[in-house]
This record gives sequence, structure tokens and C-alpha cells, in this order.
Amino acid sequence: MVGPSKPIARAEFLKAAAASGALALIGGRAALGAVTRVQTRAIPKTGEALPVVGLGTSRVFNVGADGAVRAARREVLAILFEAGGSVIDSSPMYGRSEGVVGNELAALGKRDSAFLATKVWTRGKREGIAQMEDSMRLLGTERIDLMQVHNLVDLDTQLATLREWKAAGRIRYLGITHWTRGSLDDLAAIIARENLDFVQFAYSIATRDAERRLLPLCAEHGVATLINRPYVNGELFRRARGHAVPSWATDELGCASWGQYFLKFILGHPQVTCVIPGTSKPRHARDNVGAGMGALPSAAQLRRMLADWRTIASS
Ligand SMILES: NC(=O)c1ccc[n+]([C@@H]2O[C@H](COP(=O)([O-])OP(=O)(O)OC[C@H]3O[C@@H](n4cnc5c(N)ncnc54)[C@H](OP(=O)(O)O)[C@@H]3O)[C@@H](O)[C@H]2O)c1
Repeated sequence: MVGPSKPIARAEFLKAAAASGALALIGGRAALGAVTRVQTRAIPKTGEALPVVGLGTSRVFNVGADGAVRAARREVLAILFEAGGSVIDSSPMYGRSEGVVGNELAALGKRDSAFLATKVWTRGKREGIAQMEDSMRLLGTERIDLMQVHNLVDLDTQLATLREWKAAGRIRYLGITHWTRGSLDDLAAIIARENLDFVQFAYSIATRDAERRLLPLCAEHGVATLINRPYVNGELFRRARGHAVPSWATDELGCASWGQYFLKFILGHPQVTCVIPGTSKPRHARDNVGAGMGALPSAAQLRRMLADWRTIASS
């Protein structure tokens, strides 16, 4: 780790270090007197501590056997673990992703360090069981930490199997997922009627519908939340292009990049258990885990982040 050779503003140093990929895990934050591990929050149903930044694998882990491509994915996983992260979200919908995760975890010797979340995404009881057994084989495990009904497909059938599998110890937690705004009312109705451990949905500084009803409902029912599409699938970076991160957010919250600004905004909500940005790139993985370290925004800081973002996004 190369620190600043002469005194420079903290904000300037954070930005330069983030751009170089240096401010990540090893010496950067220690040199700044900050923590080097991702914070954790409790899973409401059990109290188990879960690191607040995880990893999504949609598209970005759907890759072939090319050595350099696979090495980059392995490094993304290694960075997650080095930072104290563990949550990896996949699905049979994501092409080769489950198999790539399984192979690279084995290569790293980290299978047991991962909190593996995947999904069942098919119709029919037998089909669901066959798909989940396939996921276990691909991920190289006999027990999945979290199994979710993907996009609510054949919900009642698949939930019934998930309850049986949880009772039999084949999965540890069960949940449901979706990603559209239009699904939020359905998710809310299911949370109110079923006994769920987790719910996964979209929430970001630009897509805040979940704040109104879903996040408070999750708190009321003791349901953990996994946040997908935190960058609106990368769209937020396109909108931020050409704009600097507000310097107060760097100074007060340690936001060294737009990525950290966006993730810290999400983590500022106390009902968020874990956010799962997808990335194919080690430097982005470092950036993302960095958001789970150090200060998180207060309610007043969240309002300021939102106001500043609105000005930037509309300019
Ligand atoms: N229905 C569902 O269950 C559902 C639906 C959607 C998503 N998900 C889950 O949620 C995860 C996250 O959602 P998502 O992948 O769709 O969208 P996302 O996390 O909002 O955005 C991913 C995009 O952001 C880029 N990125 C990531 N970190 C970055 C950084 N620090 N700086 C700049 N660019 C960065 C990635 O590109 P690079 O590869 O270049 O980093 C990628 O193109 C998925 O992977 C999946 O696991 C679930």
C-alpha cells in the first residue's frame, strides 16, 4: 500500500486511492485509522450476523472457462472474503453463474466461508426439487444458506418444498425475490401471510419505492432484506458521469467513489440487512466492500445525499 507522500486533503487522498484500487483492504483504511472489515447486521429470525455488503452474480458470473476471465471472478470472491464479506447471490436463471461460483470457491478453498444464496425458478414440485439439487451440485455444497423463490414463480408449490427442506436441514433460511416496482405490493402481501426469513427486492437512491411500505413491513415481521439492483444495473454510474462525489460525503462518510455513495445511501436504512451489487471487476469489488466499512449516513445525511443526487442527476 502506498500512502500519500505529502500531506493532502483526506478527501483527495481517498479519491486518488480508490481510483488506483489501493484503498481497499490491506493498508489503506488502516492507515486512515478506519476499520478494514465490512460491518454486520443481525438476521432478525436468528440473530446471526450477516456482512452488509455481498455479491450479485447475474450476468457478471455467467462466463466460460477462459483463464483470465475466471481469475478475475476468483479475485472478486477473494476480495469479498478478505473484507469479511460472505453473501453470494445466484440463480439457475443466471446461466453458468452457479457453476462458476462453485468452482472458484473450491479453488479458493472458501466454500465454507460463503453464505450461499440461490433460487428456485421453475414450475412444479418435482422440477423445483431437481433444480435445487442441481444448484447444490454446481455450488459444491450439501446445504444452501438461503433458498429463494425467484420472481415468485410457482410460489406456493416452491415455498412448500422450501419449508420441507428447511425442516430437513438442507437449507438454513427461505425467502422470496423480485426486482420490479410493480412486484412490491405482492411481496408485501406475501410477507404478511407467510413466515419468511428473507425477502429480496430492488432499492436504490433512484428507486426508493420500498421505503414506503416494504421496508417497514419487513421490520414488523422480522424479515431480513437483501437489496438487489443497488446501481439500477449500472445506470446510476452513467447518470453520475462527469460529476464529482460531493466532498462532504467523502469527508464525513468516507465515500471514495460514486459506488460507495450509492451503497452507503442504501445501508443508511436500518431495515436493510445486506446489499448485493453485481460485479465482474476486482477494482469494483474493492470499491463495493469499502462501502460497508466506516461511517454510515444518519437520517440528516441521507436527506442531504438524496438532495445532492437529485441536483446532479437532473443536471
Ligand atoms: N429477481 C431477482 O431475484 C433479482 C433481480 C435482479 C438482480 N438480482 C440480484 O441482484 C444482483 C445485483 O443486481 P444487478 O447485478 O442486476 O445490478 P447492479 O448491482 O445494480 O449493477 C451491476 C452493474 O454495476 C457495475 N458495477 C458494480 N460495482 C461497480 C462499481 N463499484 N463501480 C462501477 N460500476 C460497478 C457492474 O459492472 P462491472 O462488472 O463492470 O463491475 C454491473 O454492470 C444481481 O447480480 C443478482 O444477484 C436478483
